[in-house]
Amino acid sequence: MFLLRRLFTRRRAARFPLYLTDEEQTGLRAAGRFNAEVLDFIRPYVQPGVTTATLDGLVDEYTRDHGHLPACHGYQGFPKSICTSVNEVVCHGIPDERPLQSGDIVNIDCTSIVDGWYGDASETLLVGDCSPRARELVQTAFDALWVGIGALRPFGSVIDIGHAIARFGMERNVGVVETFQGHGIGRRFHQDPGIPHTPMKEARNRILVPGTCFTVEPMVNAGDKDTEGPLGDGWTVITRDRSLSAQFEHQILMTETGPEILTLTQHGPQPGHRF
Ligand code: MF3
Ligand code: CO
Ligand code: CO
Repeated sequence: MFLLRRLFTRRRAARFPLYLTDEEQTGLRAAGRFNAEVLDFIRPYVQPGVTTATLDGLVDEYTRDHGHLPACHGYQGFPKSICTSVNEVVCHGIPDERPLQSGDIVNIDCTSIVDGWYGDASETLLVGDCSPRARELVQTAFDALWVGIGALRPFGSVIDIGHAIARFGMERNVGVVETFQGHGIGRRFHQDPGIPHTPMKEARNRILVPGTCFTVEPMVNAGDKDTEGPLGDGWTVITRDRSLSAQFEHQILMTETGPEILTLTQHGPQPGHRF
């Protein structure tokens, strides 16, 4: 019994490594890169009048045409290939037949499986003409992600990310969501370490050992931090006070010299971008 368990945990550890060898890092880099290219592909289609179901179909086809898989499809029963979270939807919105309208904000969250490795990233897009408030919230969500990235150090504690983002959220007067976190990622979609965006004490002893791959993906609300859901569809999470919510997500590999962002291309919003 003991031996079996040891064999199992060893095999499991080998299949789902938390600290990646150089070769494994190469696989994960390719997944992050491809996933970022999916966002590059879909960005121009996000316009007033397009339905989120159309965006979903386009991403699904693009991903499969390149020989890869959309990881969301069928993940714990999720029915579509991307998450599309519009306005007061915090995360896990299901693409549907409602056309996007000028003034909406929509987060597109894409996850791909490339040769067994997961790539995960998202961004919030402004649809047509948005109110200054919506634009400002999207800016704050983007800046919050980069504030979190700025707190990353080799062998640093995960709690530093939460301290930095929570402080920034207070300054900008937004609610930083606590009910959803970033996560380790590799040969599994979600694994250790959990990456809270506020300073939760259990994150103190989670250490960013070089070779760790994870996401930072803060959700910020124009109003209160609290969320409601999932709704009746089993997935959609909204702000409790129905205020707008925005999110950006990057996938990051900690190296000996600092964080390497795996989901950044020259086409997406660069650090310092103004919306
Ligand atoms: N991509 C999301 C994340 O950043 C997870 C979506 S799970 C799904 O972790 F099932 F809703 F697709
Ligand atoms: Co994601
Ligand atoms: Co994620």
